[in-house]
Amino acid sequence: MPVITAIEDLKRLHKRRVPRMFFEYCESGSYTEQTFRDNVSDFAKLRLRQKVAVDMSNRTIAGTMLGKPVTMPVALAPVGFTGMQSADGEIKAARAAEAFGVPFTLSTMSICSIEDVAAHTTAPFWFQLYVMKDWDFVASALDRARKAGCSALVLTLDLQIMGQRHKDLKNGLSAPPKPTLANIIDIATKWRWAAGMARTKRHSFGNIVGHAKGVKDLSSLGSWTAEQFDPQLDWGKIARIRDMWGGKLILKGVLDEDDARRAADFGADAMIVSNHGGRQLDGALSSIRRLPSIARAVGDQAEVWMDGGIRSGQDVLKALAMGAKATLIGRSYIYGLGALGQAGVSAALEVIRKEIDTTMALCGERDIAKFGAHNLMIPKDFEGDWKD
Ligand code: GLV
Repeated sequence: MPVITAIEDLKRLHKRRVPRMFFEYCESGSYTEQTFRDNVSDFAKLRLRQKVAVDMSNRTIAGTMLGKPVTMPVALAPVGFTGMQSADGEIKAARAAEAFGVPFTLSTMSICSIEDVAAHTTAPFWFQLYVMKDWDFVASALDRARKAGCSALVLTLDLQIMGQRHKDLKNGLSAPPKPTLANIIDIATKWRWAAGMARTKRHSFGNIVGHAKGVKDLSSLGSWTAEQFDPQLDWGKIARIRDMWGGKLILKGVLDEDDARRAADFGADAMIVSNHGGRQLDGALSSIRRLPSIARAVGDQAEVWMDGGIRSGQDVLKALAMGAKATLIGRSYIYGLGALGQAGVSAALEVIRKEIDTTMALCGERDIAKFGAHNLMIPKDFEGDWKD
């Protein structure tokens, strides 16, 4: 096993070991990728305040999410095509999360099905739903998630239509990849990936195949979402889903205070401040810049979490100090999965755990729950002074 010191090491290996179309699917934002880049670079504008001569013994970074204990406030975000980054990728990621003691979220657009993941794990996981025009599909997905023991529903609100990711079109992204000359040449150099894929039967969207009606070309995410996703999703329909589900509800994709207040009044248990990793509305502000005012607007009405741009434990701490109760990581664990399978997801979590622990101590804190704005140096114009 190579020495892994940072998430960047995993990213480098991921790029080398996984077919280009899947690495680039992960490493894309929509259109100009401005928001995708800002999610990361805005974290770097926040600085940590060094504090010395404080007792650093007996530190804790444990917390809770939806009232359940987590070993650190970092859940695995829903990511499409995860089982194309490494064979049976969702099962591997869910197992790594379970062993570590953090929640795993299964995407609707996963390769392993809800049932596959449930059969290979014991900890309950969360299920992320995309709302389809076909309500029979929605009802059956909720039912399957309930039967599999999923402990929360993550409803994604920012992808009723898809922002264009240029690389996916140029690469002809599909699951499984089509046998074109370019793909054959690329895959020939990715022998670990190919050997894993040869050993599994899971090569397409496990939650969709055999469950959704009238899907013409399932392998292409772009055309499939355009045909199937419900562009009319609104608060009325969200209420219908909340009532159909009846369990814990997490609303994902909130980037605006008014939406956040609405989500809180609506009774969401948690909301995720997110711009879908910069993959949807290009030109939106980064999640970390939007987070403080949303956290202020929501107060204690619901748990406010964030995702987008977290590549280190330092970033996790910055997010907490800016008002998030917890965070989610997507790319940071997908790099690990592509690099080293389940061990790579564990490595990503371990890197982040150690960074949180050391950084917190050097900031003079022993309990992550106490980490706050007093530990940061925040540029005066960080949130922006925008016209009403
Ligand atoms: C799907 O959720 C995507 O962002 O590709």
